[in-house]
Amino acid sequence: MNLNIALLPGDGIGPEVTQQAVKILNAIAEKYNHNFKYTKAAIGAAAMKINGDPLPNETLKICSEADAILFGSIGEPVHDHDPNANIRPEQGLLRLRKELDLFANIRPVQTYESSLHKSNLKEEVVKGTDFVIYRELTSGIYFGEKKISKNEQEATDTCTYSAKEIDRITHLAFKAAKSRRKKLTLIDKANVLATSRLWRKRVQEISKSYPSIQLNFLYANTAAMQLILKPTQFDVILTENLIGDILSDEASVISGSIGLLASASIGEKTALFEPIHGSFPKAKGKNIANPLASILSAAMLLDHFQLYDEAEEIRAAVEKSIELNITTPDLNATNYFSTTNVGNFLSDFILDDENTFYNK
Ligand code: IPM
Ligand code: MN
Repeated sequence: MNLNIALLPGDGIGPEVTQQAVKILNAIAEKYNHNFKYTKAAIGAAAMKINGDPLPNETLKICSEADAILFGSIGEPVHDHDPNANIRPEQGLLRLRKELDLFANIRPVQTYESSLHKSNLKEEVVKGTDFVIYRELTSGIYFGEKKISKNEQEATDTCTYSAKEIDRITHLAFKAAKSRRKKLTLIDKANVLATSRLWRKRVQEISKSYPSIQLNFLYANTAAMQLILKPTQFDVILTENLIGDILSDEASVISGSIGLLASASIGEKTALFEPIHGSFPKAKGKNIANPLASILSAAMLLDHFQLYDEAEEIRAAVEKSIELNITTPDLNATNYFSTTNVGNFLSDFILDDENTFYNK
């Protein structure tokens, strides 16, 4: 298969981790005879250094013409903690999501048998966790009108959802539930918010077309508790933009490191793949960042093009690296491996057909 991939390394550890993801995609291309072509483009603080714009037109053009986008991370400390800054690196990513209409953000959360003890939660609580968050990504309070009054005594953020915006991600989430354990949980604040009540109405209506799926509702505050009390109860979680952002970071605690969580952001025309972690500025350039979230995002990219065997091959290699403790400091404090060496191990593991060296 020929794929044109836009490569957006972004800020902080973004370039280091995406470099490893490309290494793994190249190993897959070599083994399965695919042709993956990459076009690099600037975004975030890295792009702002060039001409002040966190999403240059050139980058948007490259992304709209690509089959898929592989994204690193965004954000730089100089732009944080400045409440007066009206241009921030994050706006590059938010605009990109909006412009490409990447409305469905899919974030799988699972645990690995060999690293259950790495979680801050009890082993018996996290064991067997396997759920996926469907987070709406291009609407809600993130994209509603925002204003601060002239005297700076009042500020407003508006949260709006249309039935159409709710319906399209809801269908995707139900379809996902159909191919999984047939359970869907809508998480909202329907006891307080009008938008949540519209979500409930639409989701209830749509559920009639998916009679095999068990539908549940949870308030976001209760869900925050349940996620860490009993994560195994969840299969597909469906939620709006802001709640999805908060709950997915919380969910990363379950697997032991946020450096393990991948995501796909799907639109009608194209899709973007990125780790859920941020730019981790303190680790920048140190070759210690966990590349697995980025590598697993590359596996989701392959899934998107129905290259299931290839994606599975990456996941098996990742599992092996965790099992053998060939991991970065977030998972392996004492005898850790560098970002590059984790990537090298995975690439060798994929390309070594007999797996003789590592005695699979
Ligand atoms: C994420 C991030 C972004 C978000 C930031 C960088 C704007 O936290 O992808 O989850 O809030 O959506
Ligand atoms: Mn987030």
